[in-house]
This record gives sequence, C-alpha cells and structure tokens, in this order.
Amino acid sequence: MLGNFKFSNPTKLYFGKDSLNFLKDELKNYGKTVMLSYGGGSIKRNGIYDSVVNILKSEGKTIIEDGGVMSNPTVEKMYEGAAKVRDNNVDLILAVGGGSTIDYAKGIAASAYCETDPWKTYYLEQKSPVCKIVPVASILTMVGTGSEMNGGSVITNHKENLKIGKVFDDRLMPRFTILNPEFTYTVPTYQMVAGFFDIMSHLMEQYFSNFDDNTTDYLAEGLMRSLIHSSLIAVKDPKDYEARSNIMWTATWALNTMLKMGKHGDWMVHMIGQAIGAHTDATHGMTLAAVSIPYYKYILDGICNNGNKGIEKFKRFAVNVWNVREEGKDDRQLALEGINCLEKWMKEIGVVMKASELGVKEDMLEAIADSTITYPTDYRTLNHNDVVEILRQSL
Ligand code: NZQ
Ligand code: ZN
Repeated sequence: MLGNFKFSNPTKLYFGKDSLNFLKDELKNYGKTVMLSYGGGSIKRNGIYDSVVNILKSEGKTIIEDGGVMSNPTVEKMYEGAAKVRDNNVDLILAVGGGSTIDYAKGIAASAYCETDPWKTYYLEQKSPVCKIVPVASILTMVGTGSEMNGGSVITNHKENLKIGKVFDDRLMPRFTILNPEFTYTVPTYQMVAGFFDIMSHLMEQYFSNFDDNTTDYLAEGLMRSLIHSSLIAVKDPKDYEARSNIMWTATWALNTMLKMGKHGDWMVHMIGQAIGAHTDATHGMTLAAVSIPYYKYILDGICNNGNKGIEKFKRFAVNVWNVREEGKDDRQLALEGINCLEKWMKEIGVVMKASELGVKEDMLEAIADSTITYPTDYRTLNHNDVVEILRQSL
C-alpha cells in the first residue's frame, strides 16, 4: 500500500426495505423548501413519487417540482435547474432517481449561486465551488453509478460534443441516501444490465492500475465476485431480493471513493464511453460494455510487447475473479482467459457488445476520439490513434 491519502465520506446511508421510513427524521434537519428532482416519470408510474410527496407534506415542506431530468443530463437542464433553486431559495435538493438525477442535483446545487459559468468553471476547468452550496440528498431507484455516495456529477454538452464528469468534494456528496432494493424492481432490463456493467467497469477501472500489493485490490476482487454471482441470478429473476440488494450494496462501494484509496485508477474505458455518449446519447453502462473487451485486449497487447509490466494484475484477475486454473498456461494465455471469462459473462447478462449497436459508425471514429480525454495511465497510455483503433475494434 504505497499511496498517501485522506479518506472521508460524509454520506449517511439507510438501506433496506424499510429505509424510506427514515426520510421523515432526516427532513427535520433542513429548512422548509425542498426541491424534488426526478427523471422522466418512472417514479410516478411505480408509486415512489406519491410515497415521497406524502412524507414531504406530512413534514410541512413546500415542494418545488423539478421533473424531467433526462438520462445523461444536459448543460441546458442544469442551468434551468440552478435558476429554479436560486429563485425559490431552496433549502434541500432531494433527488429521486438514478445517477442522472443525482448527478444533475449536485450540478445545480453547486451552480445556483455560482457567479461564473458553471459548465466552464466546474466541468471544463475542473475548479471547486467557492459559492454557497445547497445540500443534496438522494433516494436511489436505479443501481450502477455510485452517485448516491460520491461527489461525481457527469453533464453532457451536445453542442460541444462533450460529456464531462466533475468529482466534487465532500460538500456536494449527498447528505443522506435512501437505498431500498425494491425500488429498483421496475427498472427495464436494458437499463438494469447496463447498470450491472457500470459497476463492473468501476471496479475494473480502479483495479487495473498500480503495481504494488494493495488491500484495495482484494476488496475489489471480492466485490467483483459478488457482482458476477448476483447478476446471473438477477437477470433470471429480477425480483430476487437477495441478488438485487447485494448488487445495490456492491454498486455503492464500487464508487464511493474507498476503492480509490492508494490507487491511480485508469478510467480510460469511461473516457471513451463518455465520448461515445456525447455523440450518441447512448446509455452509459452500454457505452462502457461496447469498448471494454477491445480495450483490455489492446492494453494486454501493449503490456506483452513492452516487457510484461502490468501482466500480474491481468493474471490475478483471471485467477482470483474468474477461478481460471493456472497450470500449463503462459502469462499471456492466462491473462487472455480472464478477459474471455469477462466477455462470456457480459454475453450472459446481455449487455451491448459492439459500439455499432449504439449508432457508432466508421466515419464517426475520429470525432469520438477527438472528444475522448486522454492522459498517462499505468499499463498503457493511449494517444488519439490508439483510441481510434480501439473504437474500430468495437464496431
Ligand atoms: O427518467 P426516468 O423516467 O426515471 O427513467 C430512468 C431512465 O430512463 C429509468 N429508471 C430509473 N429508475 C427506475 C427507472 N425506470 C423504472 N423504474 C425505476 N425504479 O432508468 C433510466 C436510466 O436512468 P439514469 O439515471 O439515466 O441511469 P444511471 O443511473 O445509469 O445514470 C447514468 C448517468 O450517470 C453518469 C452517467 O455518465 C450518466 O450520465 N455517471 C455518474 C457517475 C458518478 N456520479 O459518479 C459515475 C458513472 O460512471 C457515470 O458516468
Ligand atoms: Zn460509470
């Protein structure tokens, strides 16, 4: 464990079938005006909206309605929401939904009183807020992003062909989050499995970095094993509470900053996936799934052609996560077998395996690579042409 780090996470979690009961007590800690932010209407259809509104009313809150947060929330929606927070003097933003709604809530919480253009300041320039911040809390209805217990906020700017994440500090992390696995039962299969892959990707993006022996990697291996096990149950029976609750808990730990400790992370699958998202508006988890197999094969090729530095992690992934037997295999074969197991699992749960399924075409590859943020990584640093090549292999 070679890194130096600070670990803190202020988000209070309420987990389980009865977790909504705690909303009442939490609300007592905030002022009268609550902005209720939600997506395209799923919470109205499945009854979560009514349950939450009843609790808000019983606590005497003034509700500011803020529906219509789209998947991959846009910068225009963020400006609109920020103005609504300011105009209504909102005391708490309660985000009820998936990662998009919670990310958006953090964006507007930091933007409402920002004196500069928040897109430029927070997302393009990656600066920290210096203005008043409105508290955010969340009720999660779709599992995957980890937004419920982190400071991440990903906003899409279609005009600029950019989808950028800002990781805000503790002040923007949800003050409390309610996690009821049953709230996720109505998520459509496509979104559900996209979320499963998003979790796997968060785990892998942190695991595939560094060279030292780090406790965090052992934790990641355990979480991956749990996810693989439960996801195979959940795709057959989406109402299996045990599987769905394990996945919900795994998703939160996969990206609540704990697995980041002492790790550089890689995140290039996310960078390429987000660039695909900026051009196609495709579902986040599916953009990651579409490029992951070509990506990890490309990284492994680079490692094998450059003195094998990093191969240990690929071998460990095969053995510890997928139970691949080591005997009779050279390093590359063993490493490749791990990637093949990943591919087999992805097909079993039914994620998108090709970027072409998301509308990516050969003549878009250069532009998507232009929108991909690249930086040095531990195992193989990518340049523009590498990204184009990975994208080509994902068609
Ligand atoms: O909008 P509604 O009608 O609610 O429908 C949503 C949406 O269509 C639906 N849904 C959610 N809960 C449901 C439900 N449908 C039925 N029943 C329910 N209980 O599911 C669809 C997808 O929701 P969304 O919030 O867009 O999905 P997700 O949670 O995957 O969030 C994706 C966004 O999060 C960002 C992504 O880039 C993307 O913009 N990410 C945020 C991260 C973070 N904060 O740390 C990290 C991630 O890597 C990711 O980048
Ligand atoms: Zn993700």
